[in-house]
Amino acid sequence: MARRNIYQVGDNTLREVSKPVTEFDDRLWQLLDDMRDTLIYADGAGLAAPQVGVLKRVFIATFDGGNTIIEAVNPKIVKTKGKRVAPEGCLSIPRIREKVERPKHVEVEAFDRHGNPIVLKASNFEASCFCHEIDHLDGILFTDKSIKK
Ligand code: NI
Repeated sequence: MARRNIYQVGDNTLREVSKPVTEFDDRLWQLLDDMRDTLIYADGAGLAAPQVGVLKRVFIATFDGGNTIIEAVNPKIVKTKGKRVAPEGCLSIPRIREKVERPKHVEVEAFDRHGNPIVLKASNFEASCFCHEIDHLDGILFTDKSIKK
């Protein structure tokens, strides 16, 4: 069990563009394991590496309270379909929830922790989560995109 600190909005690290992972080694696995512990402890749905201060293109997500962890390394959105507006939050921006427009369906190509290619297909909340986490890898926060009325 090794939790890491979650960087909070205002920290410039969250605004950096993360670099692709090139080594699928034990440092990456340690990062992923620590991110899992951090996400489960924080009771969130998704966590991107820059949120723990690591500028690598990595995110994780869980949609069943931590029983199943989705790991995505070097993720890319390759297909989107439809649109949906729904409230979002972020572990780096406590107590704020705002509406964001995201694709209703997404297809993401990525790699697993061993460097094997994977395809993640998601809809609705899960699609929004993947888009939100991938935005983190480009220094974008959901509040940049929120629909304020
Ligand atoms: Ni977030």
